[in-house]
Amino acid sequence: MTQEELFKKLVAHCKEYGFIFPSSEIYDGLGAVYDYGQNGVELKNNIKRYWWDSMVKLHENIVGIDAAIFMHPKTWEASGHVAAFNDPLIDNKDSKKRYRADVLIEDWIAKQDEKIAKEVEKARKRFGESFNEAQYRSTSPRVLETAAKRDEVHKRYADAMNANDLTELRQIILDCEIACPISGTRNWTDVRQFNLMFSTQMGSTAEGASTIYLRPETAQGIFVNYLNVQKTARMKIPFGIAQIGKAFRNEIVARQFIFRMREFEQMEMQFFVQPGTEMEWWRRWKDIRMAWHRALGFGDDNYRFHDHEKLAHYANAATDIEYNFPFGFKEVEGIHSRTDFDLGRHQQYSGKKIQYFDPERGESYVPYVVETSIGVDRMFLQIMSAAYTEEKLEGGEERVVLRIPPQLAPTKVAVMPLVKKDGLPEVAQKIIDTLKYDHNVAYDEKDSIGKRYRRQDAIGTPFCVTVDHQTLEDNTVTVRHRDTMAQERIPIDALPAMVDGEVSFRKLFKKLGL
Ligand code: GAP
Repeated sequence: MTQEELFKKLVAHCKEYGFIFPSSEIYDGLGAVYDYGQNGVELKNNIKRYWWDSMVKLHENIVGIDAAIFMHPKTWEASGHVAAFNDPLIDNKDSKKRYRADVLIEDWIAKQDEKIAKEVEKARKRFGESFNEAQYRSTSPRVLETAAKRDEVHKRYADAMNANDLTELRQIILDCEIACPISGTRNWTDVRQFNLMFSTQMGSTAEGASTIYLRPETAQGIFVNYLNVQKTARMKIPFGIAQIGKAFRNEIVARQFIFRMREFEQMEMQFFVQPGTEMEWWRRWKDIRMAWHRALGFGDDNYRFHDHEKLAHYANAATDIEYNFPFGFKEVEGIHSRTDFDLGRHQQYSGKKIQYFDPERGESYVPYVVETSIGVDRMFLQIMSAAYTEEKLEGGEERVVLRIPPQLAPTKVAVMPLVKKDGLPEVAQKIIDTLKYDHNVAYDEKDSIGKRYRRQDAIGTPFCVTVDHQTLEDNTVTVRHRDTMAQERIPIDALPAMVDGEVSFRKLFKKLGL
């Protein structure tokens, strides 16, 4: 199965098992907008809890807020989003399809890497055990030629993005002979800038109404509350403010399911530091955030840092944490050193002094900011991509299992009476009553036990508990484990401790070393 086929299956699975539905589907959906179903919302809430607690509970110097989506329009002038929150877009004149010029070029660069990887694989098969990959990569004329072409385009692209040179971006597309995937032609328009913010009117009359924006990032809600929080919580630098909330972007190209959405959710933390210490903190937060991802156990090699080619208008250093999705390594989280840009600009635009008096240095300054910013939905897709597994079982049977970390799984335990009689359903209900105050527990009495196990595997439930006739005699049940499918007999009284031990966030948090 190719990675593309796998991804299609994952998308279908998300719908079939109540994780994600297209928004307003009865009206054929709305581009790049999605709804979370009964299982999706539980997983999403657990992701948010993992993030929130790791920030706010595990760091004494981080507090949380929940700011409004609508903000004073001046916020977005000050932040630079009105002037600079743009993507370069280009249209194909034949198909009338719109693309992001930067994405077309980045895809072309990624294709060169794929070409090289294919060459290497072919050679590996040809040479067998004596194959020396490093030597092949540095001597094969075909690999060297492709790599040189890639590097040249890469440099031109980075320079063009940094200089905002739209003519050069178009020229790169022409020089690389990039064709529209729909029409197959290279009949391109000029490249234009497109602002990604959604706007609407606030106020009841047309004359009295003012244009306001749906926030494209949650961060600004933190910046405008910097003084409120610092004063009321008596925070001392360095300290952080965390927030989870919706953000909106009128994305030109909405692709790859929930990877790029027009309405999405962010988990952002702004960490305020003394000027001059920001690089040290930026590196520290890179490590902390990478450890948070790796603690989930999806394989350290599936994550990497990718430094930005083009720094956003507010940053002096920026890196992405990328995950190896079925469609390649892509950004899940950004860690940005935002300098004093945001607070400085809000000070300027509002006329209010936004400074910190540092008692140790005996002076006031505008703090510098290191930001960690991750999309809830993208994290959701990362987890689903990593967790979705198709397995062949003994006897030729197959199962789909979601190997979601138990702490994040939507349902923790499914309790199943072997048969719907002889008092077994009543015992099952009693077990649910002892677990339900702490965990999401499901009851299932329909179909064979095998089918019931498959249903729970498909939504990632870590434990299935079967109540049978022996239970009536000795108060024991069979616990079946999702990943190993191993079964064990344990006393009902031992269930709560066993479940707690596996699904408690404590185990995950301990891995973070905070
Ligand atoms: N405050 C900084 C900021 O917003 P960003 O790199 O534009 O930085 C941060 O976004 C994270 O938000 C990304 O790493 C990604 O996880 C998520 N994100 C951004 N745009 C998104 C979109 N259109 N759909 C889903 N998630 C998105």
